[in-house]
Amino acid sequence: PAVLHPAVEPLSFLLGTWRGQGEGGFPTINSFSYGEELHFSHSGNKPIIGYTQKTWKLNSGEPMHAESGYWRPKPDGTIEVVIAQSTGLAEVQKGTYNAKEKVIELQSESLGNASKVREIQRVFRLVDGNLCYEVQMATNTMSLQPHLKAALKKL
Ligand code: HEM
Repeated sequence: PAVLHPAVEPLSFLLGTWRGQGEGGFPTINSFSYGEELHFSHSGNKPIIGYTQKTWKLNSGEPMHAESGYWRPKPDGTIEVVIAQSTGLAEVQKGTYNAKEKVIELQSESLGNASKVREIQRVFRLVDGNLCYEVQMATNTMSLQPHLKAALKKL
């Protein structure tokens, strides 16, 4: 948009489309690689960033996980995020952002329809112009540990 909502301005570096690759793993599964695209949008009139994600198998292009939601940054440096995953899991995330360091840290406050997932942490960080993130989760059998990490370039 021509004009950014003031609450969104500190995170305006996110806006646009990011594409890249990630690696996944967990003690209970085989590790895997994936392609990914993220899109962050903003209409200007509300303090909201729209978020969509899709992933695919690198060799075949076959769709994997997808999710979408809304990011709500507050002027005090806190942020609320809601995400609906294609697996049926719903996340309410609370966290903080640092506009200068370009880091966003999210911690699940509540999970809906989560099956074996007990906790999700997400950290996003701009590194040399790439958007890098790590997702950690805890399950009913495993303590909090990495499930996903990726590095994405802005298109
Ligand atoms: C497995 C959760 C994102 C691909 C799993 C498992 C859980 C899980 C609970 C099973 C672990 C076990 O059996 O002990 C999540 C959560 C995510 C997420 C909470 C987001 C916050 C993704 C994404 C991808 C992915 C983005 C692909 C790009 C896989 C694969 C497996 C797996 C391939 C192993 C095979 C399978 O069980 O289907 N995930 N996942 N996950 N996840 Fe994720």
